[in-house]
Amino acid sequence: MTRSQLLTLLSLLPLLLATGSAPQASLRQAAAAAGLLVGTAVRPYALSEAAYSETLGREFNMVEPEDAMKWWTVRRNEGAFDFQQGDQIVRFARAHDMKVRGHCLVWDHDNPKWLSAAKFTPQQLAHVLQEHIATEMKHYAGQVFAWDIVNEAFDERGRLKDSIWFNQPGIGFSGEGTAYIEQAFRWARDADPGAVLFYNEAEAEGMNPKSDAVYAMIKDFKQRGVPIDGVGLQLHISRLDFDARPLAKNIARLSALGVQVHITELDVSLPLEATGAIRSDDLQHQADIYRNVLHACLQNPGCTAVQTWGFTDKYSWIGSHSHGARGGALLFDKSYKPKPAYAAVLEELSSQAMRGH
Ligand code: XIL
Repeated sequence: MTRSQLLTLLSLLPLLLATGSAPQASLRQAAAAAGLLVGTAVRPYALSEAAYSETLGREFNMVEPEDAMKWWTVRRNEGAFDFQQGDQIVRFARAHDMKVRGHCLVWDHDNPKWLSAAKFTPQQLAHVLQEHIATEMKHYAGQVFAWDIVNEAFDERGRLKDSIWFNQPGIGFSGEGTAYIEQAFRWARDADPGAVLFYNEAEAEGMNPKSDAVYAMIKDFKQRGVPIDGVGLQLHISRLDFDARPLAKNIARLSALGVQVHITELDVSLPLEATGAIRSDDLQHQADIYRNVLHACLQNPGCTAVQTWGFTDKYSWIGSHSHGARGGALLFDKSYKPKPAYAAVLEELSSQAMRGH
């Protein structure tokens, strides 16, 4: 047991004695006792809202900018870097003793027009990308502890997706499989040798052709000494019959390769009735899914962080990105009231206090 874990445990003792049951602490207190980071994606403009920042600081020990460190925010204009929004998040995190996870440096989405529509040669594009990775990672060195270097490179059949970075025109490795991804990780390690480097992927949480492709790439990278430290599993869940067993299996096989696993973008979207209301039994199913995901992570010491994609239903990408009539995906409702899913996560974290000790 580390000193900070011991201190957290001691601070929970009065609660334990008073209630005689699981402690009703915050998520971050319970997570610290379980040796886990519990994070959430954040939007800088919402930090000025008291309920938003109070809930965030009280419940989480890690934040990730939802959009504030992406190309379209940092590189709105060609030739200039704008770190204002990301810096705001870093300041908040420092003031509240939270870690910052960076997201993301190589992705085929959320890029500015000058980049996606321009006609670069592969050599020019390689230079633009190397400079971007180096400048942003150096700016945040010592403040952002882990980065999603490459995001969503595979399709559902496990093939590399066409993208500006791979083959349209690519950075000089089109036709060479994952070599462009390898190059990005090498540039990232050079830029900030202290950062933990992640590959982040969507719908590769269970056992399927896409997660097989990710697994094969990580295995190859580890065997050849390519610098990679972790895999992020997004976990945007929209099925209420979600089965967490393949997730546990996938976490186990990835960590056996010697990389950490982070759950990076967890949310569980629910169907909305015509009035916008959510059925109460759906809230219960949602709570069970959150609990099962937490359990799958806590069960494996290689799974070191669970992060949700926002925390209040007031600010969520679900509903704004053609998810149809869906919503209510997060732990707190629109007025920051904890939902059954919150209680389930807190309970699961509390029951796993001191895992592995
Ligand atoms: C989403 C954000 O939540 C939105 O605000 C933005 O408009 C588009 O991107 N996978 C990812 C995230 O890796 O960056 C995406 O975030 C959600 C899917």
